[in-house]
Amino acid sequence: MKKKIAVIPGDGIGPEVMKQTLRILRFLEEKFRHEFEVEECLAGGVAIDKEGVPLPDHTLKTCKDADAILLGAVGGPKWDHLEGTDRPERALLTIRKELGFFANLRPATLFPAMKDACPLKPSLIEKGLDLMVVRELTGGIYFGEQKTITEKNGKKSAYDTMFYHEDEIRRIVKIAFEIASKRKRKLLSVDKANVLESSRLWRKTIIQEAKNYPDICLEHMYIDNAAMQLIRDPNQFDVMVTGNMFGDILSDEASMITGSIGLLPSASLDADQKGMYEPIHGSAPDIAGQNKANPLAMILSAAMMFKNSFDLTREADIIESAVEKVLDEGYRTADIYSENTVMLTTEEMGQQVLDTMKNM
Ligand code: NAD
Ligand code: IPM
Ligand code: MN
Repeated sequence: MKKKIAVIPGDGIGPEVMKQTLRILRFLEEKFRHEFEVEECLAGGVAIDKEGVPLPDHTLKTCKDADAILLGAVGGPKWDHLEGTDRPERALLTIRKELGFFANLRPATLFPAMKDACPLKPSLIEKGLDLMVVRELTGGIYFGEQKTITEKNGKKSAYDTMFYHEDEIRRIVKIAFEIASKRKRKLLSVDKANVLESSRLWRKTIIQEAKNYPDICLEHMYIDNAAMQLIRDPNQFDVMVTGNMFGDILSDEASMITGSIGLLPSASLDADQKGMYEPIHGSAPDIAGQNKANPLAMILSAAMMFKNSFDLTREADIIESAVEKVLDEGYRTADIYSENTVMLTTEEMGQQVLDTMKNM
């Protein structure tokens, strides 16, 4: 199979975890005689430094022309003083919006060997954990009107607007219903309908849409309760669907139940399964450049690319099985290290996954 892949390593640990992922990509290309035309491009802080903007035009064009995009992470303290539209994160938001990647799938799966790294009581995760957070990604408060106003006396005020059109809600909840219908037929919609008008529209819309999915059990929960319930008993949930900001927060929370944010991949998809694949974590400035980052979330994001955008399930399965085996054998990066396991660097973890794949 011939595919064009736009690769954005980005900032901080982004390039470190991407490097390991590209080695795996090259291995699968050779093993299964694919042709992956990889085009590396600049976005984020590194693009600001080299080209003066977070998302150069040619990067956006490369993304548009590609069959899929892999993104490490963007941002970092060096660029934190910049205004909203000049910041590294703007690159990510613009790619998502311009390419219509409205459906963000964030699977939180607890690998059997990772039970020790989960901070919850063992009894809560005896059966493991397999959650899917479906996050709306191109609307809501991230993309509503925002402004800072300076008064004559110099004092400032600022606002962000949480805006949803019912069509935006409908298309994301449809995806969530479809996913739920292939899993446990249970869907939790998370909102703040007791306070927010946009949440009330969200709830009305999903209730209407539920009529097309009579075999799915739909429930609703307010975001504050959902955040609490996720820690109290995560296994009460299966698929959760929510807006942009609530999904951002809930998925970081869910990631910790699986042991580390360094393990959680994501797919950001349009209606035709074209997508950008990115770990849910950021550029981790506190450990950047130290060869300490966990590359597994990025590697598992590539597996999601094979499955969702290329329909290459065999390749995706090999990656996922290799990651599971490496963890079973006790190999860990610093974020998931515990007694009686073997601590590896980022590079060594990438190598371990690669060696395991070679022997499969
Ligand atoms: P972060 O996810 O970068 O880091 C949070 C904590 O998790 C840190 O202690 C970090 O060391 C740890 N961590 C994250 N990924 C890890 C990994 N793979 N292995 C081991 N430990 C890992 O979040 P933050 O500190 O809030 O944000 C840092 C920067 O990243 C900010 O500029 C933020 O805007 C940006 N960010 C980018 C993305 C993205 O590009 N998709 C996502 C989130 C945050
Ligand atoms: C994520 C990140 C981004 C988001 C930021 C960096 C814009 O936190 O992908 O989860 O909030 O969507
Ligand atoms: Mn986030």
